[in-house]
Amino acid sequence: MKQQREQWSSKLGFLMAAAGSAIGLGAIWKFPYVVGTSGGGAFFLIFLLFTLFIGLPMLLAEFIIGRGSQKDAITAYRTFAPGTRWDLIGIMGIISSCILLAFYSVVGGWIIIYLVEAISGRLSGLDKGEYSHLFNSLIANPTVAVAAQFVFMLITILIVAKGVQKGIERASQIMMPALFIAFIILIIRSLTLSDVGEGIKFFLYPNFSSLSSKAILYALGQSFFALSVGFSVMVTYSSYLSKKENLPKSATIIVIMNIFISLLAGLAIFPAVFSFGFKPAAGPGLLFVVLPAVFDKMPFGMVFLVIFLLLFLFATFTSAFSLLEIIVAAITKGDNTKRKKVTWITGMIIFIIGIPSALSYGVLSDFKIFGKTPFDLSDYLCSNILLPLGALSIAIFTPLKIPRKKLWEEFKAGMTGGRRLFALWFLLIRYIVPIAIIIVFLDVIGVFKW
Ligand code: PHE
Repeated sequence: MKQQREQWSSKLGFLMAAAGSAIGLGAIWKFPYVVGTSGGGAFFLIFLLFTLFIGLPMLLAEFIIGRGSQKDAITAYRTFAPGTRWDLIGIMGIISSCILLAFYSVVGGWIIIYLVEAISGRLSGLDKGEYSHLFNSLIANPTVAVAAQFVFMLITILIVAKGVQKGIERASQIMMPALFIAFIILIIRSLTLSDVGEGIKFFLYPNFSSLSSKAILYALGQSFFALSVGFSVMVTYSSYLSKKENLPKSATIIVIMNIFISLLAGLAIFPAVFSFGFKPAAGPGLLFVVLPAVFDKMPFGMVFLVIFLLLFLFATFTSAFSLLEIIVAAITKGDNTKRKKVTWITGMIIFIIGIPSALSYGVLSDFKIFGKTPFDLSDYLCSNILLPLGALSIAIFTPLKIPRKKLWEEFKAGMTGGRRLFALWFLLIRYIVPIAIIIVFLDVIGVFKW
């Protein structure tokens, strides 16, 4: 018998799960290294503007599509535009989520590797060069990298197969606040190292001469990546939401939390980068190299490092769950009897797709497609092409295919007033968001340079 569609058990549960999807590698791992490679403060400012004026309205649009249809990422588009191919937005979102989760699980694996290293005490007392060397040699080992990626995927599958409500909802409510506290401790240490001024200046002082058109695209991609917007993941999550929930409020809370975590990550990393003499443009290893060095300079540093890595791992899991959930939801179409089987099969396929990415820093480091390793290519494709493209399609779809009355009805649920806010959101989603995304794309392919 077909079971009833699940719902979040509480308001807070939804908020934590959606914030859990948003907050993950994007804000904690990717953000500092992209700031580092894209020139610092100016990038941060552009990222902030994109997050507020493009990411936030997009998040709200996904919420409205999801809650308005109460359907999975493919059926949702069919509900509003029956008999058309707008459902390609959902199909593309699902394929993109597979690609993203495949390389996401590799980085999730790195956190597991670091956790094991930290517990066994091998991360304390090294010098600067040794921290970089350790990272490079750990992730270059094919067995270790693939095994860790497998463990990460396995845990993701086990939880999603169960249905996310009970475990994730409840655990997120404790883990998310704990992550904030762990960051604060880290920042205090980072800001009390010698010579923090340079790091703060690099991170927060906007020097626009260092900003390239590529960096602007990266800032746009980063704002979507960090909010889980563009793949219809948030369509799926909000489809489990009751009609009473105030969507603009939830979207705003998630965006603020996400900006806050990005800010904390930058404040924790950059003072230490400059103070220890690391390079801000070190790339994907930045966090893994700098963090242990900072913790090593604290009393009980390794205990804190283990706690921090655990929370970081958890934040990464809650994002991975959402990436797997969108696929499972679209295939099972709410029929929970199929959930287990579908989760295992799709999870294992994604694990296999991710293996070349796991080997990209070792045996496959010379294997390049379009000049990039499988790891870099998947990241680039998702962050800078698929996410903005998905967001652009959703921004076009929403005002075109959903009647304004229905949009307003979903927008205003749970609040009083809000007409002006709605008009502002509508303006943003209808004109500003699509135009801005198109301009950023055209800028990157060089249309504005002659
Ligand atoms: N927002 C997640 C993170 O920052 C990644 C993600 C992107 C998850 C897109 C779902 C969809 O880690």
